[in-house]
Amino acid sequence: MSSHGPAEPIFSSKSAPLRGEALVPGDKSISHRALILGALSVGETRITGLLEGQDVLDTGKAMRAFGAEVARSDTGEWLVHGVGVGGFAEPSQVIDCGNAGTGVRLIMGAMATSPITATFTGDASLNARPMGRITEPLKLFGTIATGRSGGRLPLTLQGAKNPTPVRYTTPMPSAQVKSAVLLAGLNAPGETVVIEQEATRDHTERMLAGFGAEISTETTDAGRVITLKGQPELLGQRITVPRDPSSAAFPVAGALLVEGSEVFVPGIGQNPTRNGIFTTLVEMGADISFENERVEGGEPVADLRVRFGPLKGVEVPPERAPSMIDEYPILAVLAATAQGVTVMRGIKEMRVKECDRIDAMARGLEACGVQVEEGEDYLIVHGMGRVPGGASCKTHLDHRIAMSFLCLGMAAENPVGIDDCKPIETSFPDFIPLMTRLGASFAAEGSS
Ligand code: S3P
Repeated sequence: MSSHGPAEPIFSSKSAPLRGEALVPGDKSISHRALILGALSVGETRITGLLEGQDVLDTGKAMRAFGAEVARSDTGEWLVHGVGVGGFAEPSQVIDCGNAGTGVRLIMGAMATSPITATFTGDASLNARPMGRITEPLKLFGTIATGRSGGRLPLTLQGAKNPTPVRYTTPMPSAQVKSAVLLAGLNAPGETVVIEQEATRDHTERMLAGFGAEISTETTDAGRVITLKGQPELLGQRITVPRDPSSAAFPVAGALLVEGSEVFVPGIGQNPTRNGIFTTLVEMGADISFENERVEGGEPVADLRVRFGPLKGVEVPPERAPSMIDEYPILAVLAATAQGVTVMRGIKEMRVKECDRIDAMARGLEACGVQVEEGEDYLIVHGMGRVPGGASCKTHLDHRIAMSFLCLGMAAENPVGIDDCKPIETSFPDFIPLMTRLGASFAAEGSS
């Protein structure tokens, strides 16, 4: 929600070995899509394992505002009764997507080809993020967008009355842009085509197919060409949301940071468009085994067993960036405690996340005594084995920056503080109790 309330600073101190099982929450990307596609379907969608973080709850609220029924059952299953493609009603209130870039961008796509008007806003972080990357392609369908400078929120979209299908090459590797165009294409007649030069997470394509859309992906010299046939009848589905690899990265990192740790992290999504962090960690020498590999709800899943062991610095191939774009903050923490230098290039997109994540990590790591180099699209971390710590880091309303520095404190020589732990609610509401159960030591500032 936009009203964030007073900040809650906490700090993290040297941790006992982490041990036990980490049941991380459902995948955030898949959760948003399940609610949105459920709302665009006919009949009932039943979702198990939905992430009940603020970002996703805000998307659920938005789907209600567009006319869908969204409810949580006593057993924790989420039920959506959709309105069908083109069936969105005009919301009577401003749609507040809180901190959620994925939420607002996908919802804008989903309503852009319906003859209704909606106004979107968010918190200070979301209202600072670029939306032109979404509104520009939506205009090609005939949608009218009126926002602040740079197309920023608050922003009003007038959906296209007679949408035309679109052929669009995404100018940056972004699953949100790709998905917004595909969702808009649902209510345009004919074929909407999205071309992406680098493969980004493909949950939208997988789930659209699962709901009954005609969608195909072809790999060509120009990149991935995704073709969607417009105006399908989507039918409500049963969806099992796998546990989020981006959230799993934190207990996995904890186990790799704290000597003597062994942590079991079951049911983690291993979609190849998302699992770059695990490939990188294995290259750094991490002891991770991938057990019981299987497919659940159309997504590959594995149980991870992680044991502490020394890590070495690596050069991450830039072409891997889209498959681990949200994991560079925690990778930077692990790189600081590794031996040798870790080079992360091709990560310009990090600058337009919930905050400028290259800057946030560079400043926080420096404050903790780590040598870093940064440029527009790179971050280089000089590993030092033992990190001095002893600083308070700014999180800029960014959940992943908050969790990353709390993990650093688990291994640093001196406690590491963060100025606000509340943003963690957006993606991993159980992070603090879960990590504490494993052995981490967090305390509110002012306590001892
Ligand atoms: C997401 C795509 C990524 C990612 C975000 C979730 C999605 O953003 O950073 O956390 O669910 O589509 P971009 O599409 O801007 O790269």
